Amino acid sequence: MFASTKNIVQKAHRKGYAVPHFNINNMEILQGVVAAAEKLKSPLIVATSEGALEYAGMDYLYALARTAADKSTVPIAFHLDHGQNLALIKKAVQKGYSSVMIDASHQPFAKNIALTKSIVRYAHRHGVSVEAELGTIGGKEDLVSGRGIIYTDPLKAAEFVERTGCDFLAVAIGTSHGAYKFSGKANLKIDLIREIKKRIKIPLVLHGASEVPLSVVRQATRYGAQLSGVQGVSDSQIKQAIQHGVAKINTDTDLRLAFDAAVRKVIITNPREFDPRRILGPARDSIQKVAEQRIRLCGSVNKA
Ligand code: G3H
Ligand code: 13P
Ligand code: ZN
Repeated sequence: MFASTKNIVQKAHRKGYAVPHFNINNMEILQGVVAAAEKLKSPLIVATSEGALEYAGMDYLYALARTAADKSTVPIAFHLDHGQNLALIKKAVQKGYSSVMIDASHQPFAKNIALTKSIVRYAHRHGVSVEAELGTIGGKEDLVSGRGIIYTDPLKAAEFVERTGCDFLAVAIGTSHGAYKFSGKANLKIDLIREIKKRIKIPLVLHGASEVPLSVVRQATRYGAQLSGVQGVSDSQIKQAIQHGVAKINTDTDLRLAFDAAVRKVIITNPREFDPRRILGPARDSIQKVAEQRIRLCGSVNKA
């Protein structure tokens, strides 16, 4: 069923688990994560970034996600990830997304508040909930832990939430997007989540949470991928983050790696194959497998 992000995330927050958020770009990724959620009876957030919308089009991705949600017995919410273009965010609200993220985290504090507040006002009028971000989460090319990351300040977080009225807050505790999260030892400030949580009541969101599973990296590498230096967030760190008040865990990179490894395997081991269904079918299965692991880690099994 099509779900409200606010309902499923608030429930998770009250009960001490997290709702898995998965980024999708196409039908196979969507079907893989939905199959995982259905098998494990987990609530699910399906998300599209601005890049995904540019690639596939909002109408296509919305129709796919809406179809999945309407056919499904588990609650599935549809979310706009890292919205920066205000017109696009409003379009998503009008389209019927369950929630939108306004990511004005690279703006000065006052501007972040002003932009977030204006989107909150607009989205709430339409019954859509809003995720905002304070501090900055590192980017895909950020090879050095901490470089380019501004950690979320707990006092500012309290003021930010109070003044914007946002429903969920993405916090910067040292994670970064992509497969190269740390150059040496993982350096996450789990304690910072506790400090932030002391001061605000709303659920927190962890971006850049992918594990970068070794088995998947090995398979991709075996079939030609060049992934030296990749490193993700450990399961134990994710569990601690959830214990301290994170109720939405964002995953994209692990799905991309699983997709890539599976496609490489088919093409390399069977060079005569050119039927897209036989190339992408195994990728869909691999996505499901990785999504199941993430759902178990979130503690959302049987919480649908
Ligand atoms: O948080 C970012 C997601 O991994 C989406 O990445 O902008 O390349 O679609 P993208
Ligand atoms: P990963 O790159 O760690 O999968 O993070 C994805 C994310 O935060 C999407 O918003
Ligand atoms: Zn993110």
